[in-house]
Amino acid sequence: MSVPTADTLRAALAGIRDPAGRDIVAAGRIEGIEIRGGLVQIALLTDRAEAAAMEPVRREVERVLAAQPGVTNATAVLTAHKTQAPPQAAPPAPGAKTALLLAEVTSIVAVASGKGGVGKSTVAVNLAVSLARAGLRVGLLDADIYGPSLPRMLGIAKKPEVRGEKMIPIEAWGIKCMSIGFLVEEETPMIWRGPMVMGALEQMMGQVAWGALDVLVVDMPPGTGDAQLTMAQRVKLAGAVIVSTPQDIALIDARRGVRMFEKVNVPVLGIVENMSFFCCPACGHRAEIFGHGGARAEAARLGAAFLGEIPLLLEIRTGSDAGTPVAAAAPDSPAGQAFAALAGAVRARLEGAAPSGGPKIVIA
Ligand SMILES: Nc1ncnc2c1ncn2[C@@H]1O[C@H](COP(=O)(O)OP(=O)(O)OP(=O)(O)O)[C@@H](O)[C@H]1O
Ligand SMILES: [Mg+2]
Repeated sequence: MSVPTADTLRAALAGIRDPAGRDIVAAGRIEGIEIRGGLVQIALLTDRAEAAAMEPVRREVERVLAAQPGVTNATAVLTAHKTQAPPQAAPPAPGAKTALLLAEVTSIVAVASGKGGVGKSTVAVNLAVSLARAGLRVGLLDADIYGPSLPRMLGIAKKPEVRGEKMIPIEAWGIKCMSIGFLVEEETPMIWRGPMVMGALEQMMGQVAWGALDVLVVDMPPGTGDAQLTMAQRVKLAGAVIVSTPQDIALIDARRGVRMFEKVNVPVLGIVENMSFFCCPACGHRAEIFGHGGARAEAARLGAAFLGEIPLLLEIRTGSDAGTPVAAAAPDSPAGQAFAALAGAVRARLEGAAPSGGPKIVIA
């Protein structure tokens, strides 16, 4: 059976018209073609205003692709990220590619894990808020392009303003925030290829008026993929905070996360144990639902610092769901105090650690 190629698929799509009557291929609507065996995913560049009019085009593209020899399944998605970038934004000049972004930020901290759902976003948000409460100028960047969670966790529904060539980050809870979720609707399916992830992430770093910051906290997507690589290559990361739950399976993934950052020469600031234990609000009994202390032991094993433990608490979850981070709404609660302690530990590591991660040179 013949294997589809991007060229044969493009040729098959030529002739399909967009709402303005233009050939979608010639009009540059085909933003990316991903082929894995017989599975084909394609993104169609679309203006937000014409998304409804593009829907029949999208379906037609799927129909045509599915009929091609060797294609077993075809998905087309509408993507609007280019049109929502600042209109005059120029691509980086050749040679500028290697220039590091975010030069005005003193410390960029990636909050990461190997495993999904362990509480990275929760930790990133409340860490950022706690650092701001301690008097630092703080930004929060949502690097999770596939599943951004900051709009919901911060209670932000508006779009960032564009001034000149830059987007203005949205201020909430004392921090400057940016997320791809501010730009696209929550229900918009987002299938992005690696280069698109890079492009969107780079835009959120390079084309956002972050200004001078002491710390930029970056909420990373799960795993060890494109976003991690982009961050490691395009900015000078002060280090990574690895989030893990105490379960063995999460710890194995945390180890993978630590190794990944080490491989790209990003220092690991330490490991934080989230959902560390549960205190029953009714009787005060402490239950160690996922076990306890595994992250501390793992940190010791990996030679990484242990940054603290965050209990499993209803108010942490409800605060996130309501868009009011617990560190801002109830800083004196046990949850608020746990995040403040984490912020203190991270800050101490930042102030003590060389930002390049290289060995410190001490002249006696
Ligand atoms: N310490 C905690 N106590 C109670 N609930 C928590 C705690 N930490 C996280 N949660 C809840 O667990 C769920 C997953 O958390 P979160 O979205 O922060 O994880 P994540 O690692 O960012 O997930 P993903 O990998 O999908 O990005 C959320 O509903 C969150 O409110
Ligand atoms: Mg998350």
